[in-house]
Amino acid sequence: MRKILAVAAAAALALSLSACGRDTGTPATGASGSSAAAVKGTIGVAMPTKTSERWIKDGDNIKQQLEAAGYQVNLVYANDDIPTQVTQVNDMITKKNQLLVVAAIDGVALKGALAEAKSAGIPVIAYDRLLRETDAVSYYTTFDNFKVGVQQGTSLLAGLAASGKPKPWNVELFAGSPDDNNATFFFNGAMSILQPKIDDGTIKIASGETDFKVVATLRWDAAVAKKRMENILTKSYASSDVNGVLAPYDGISRGIIAALKGSGYGSGGKVLPVVTGQDAELESVKSILAGEQYSTIFKDTSELAKATVKMIQEITSGATVTVNDTKSYDNGLKVVPTELLQPVACDKSSCKKILLDAKYYTDAQLA
Ligand code: BGC
Repeated sequence: MRKILAVAAAAALALSLSACGRDTGTPATGASGSSAAAVKGTIGVAMPTKTSERWIKDGDNIKQQLEAAGYQVNLVYANDDIPTQVTQVNDMITKKNQLLVVAAIDGVALKGALAEAKSAGIPVIAYDRLLRETDAVSYYTTFDNFKVGVQQGTSLLAGLAASGKPKPWNVELFAGSPDDNNATFFFNGAMSILQPKIDDGTIKIASGETDFKVVATLRWDAAVAKKRMENILTKSYASSDVNGVLAPYDGISRGIIAALKGSGYGSGGKVLPVVTGQDAELESVKSILAGEQYSTIFKDTSELAKATVKMIQEITSGATVTVNDTKSYDNGLKVVPTELLQPVACDKSSCKKILLDAKYYTDAQLA
């Protein structure tokens, strides 16, 4: 009996090592190539912060789905603090977690820790945010980030057209955290729609601030965005109104709306400008339904978790990993094979149905 157990243990170890050690950097497409059962150890899941609702949902969804599939889960959050996240990832490697799923705070800062993961034979999946300047990342699961920006720009224009305000429209631009690769994709996507309108004079940026580095918001911080909006209102809108604001994420949108309200918008006949967003956070969805924030971009985090868990099962069983994009995400050292999901834009006319149909919120939450 003891001998049988030892043989089984050795076989499991061999399978585990071959799963961990396979060259996961090769883009793989097509159907699953192996029926081998997954070796189910502990999966390390490193999330950036609990200050935004989406990451809590992401963590919960991954944990729940992995546990249902028979894995153990080591889920941690880093309070948006880079050294904390580096320590957490190092700890996962020391504890020999079988595979790492990482949503980075700073896409580059983890490269030293990830090199350790690679030499320990631990595969790494970049979750939602690309891990940059490292060849230790095997795969990437995310939403089409350029498309998110295109949807934000398109929605801003639609809201401006519907506002009935005369052209040129006064617009201000905000972008996300410069150390998050997604922020550039969102901004470039939005500017692919807005730049032609700036060039032909349909849109005016009274502050003159259009450069990504200037409009970026470190750590996606709502308070930083609020302050910048207040400064812009004081400096550039003493004698005119702002009609639209490109905001990349719901937390930032709410910071901007707070600044606008503080300056008299939203009351006494001074209408709030069209403000975009992202993530369909509950507070922002309520704001949209109440006619304040104009729109958001819905990214179904349970679907992202599902795609990631499927990938983990494929990697840990030695199966061929299925991805649908092998060209968009160059991390500086390699083009990372990516599974891209589709974002969905929604505004007051569509948000409720979209979110209820996806079972993202209940009727009671949106009442
Ligand atoms: C995510 C967005 C989110 C932002 C701030 C980005 O990396 O893709 O969904 O709004 O981070 O948390």
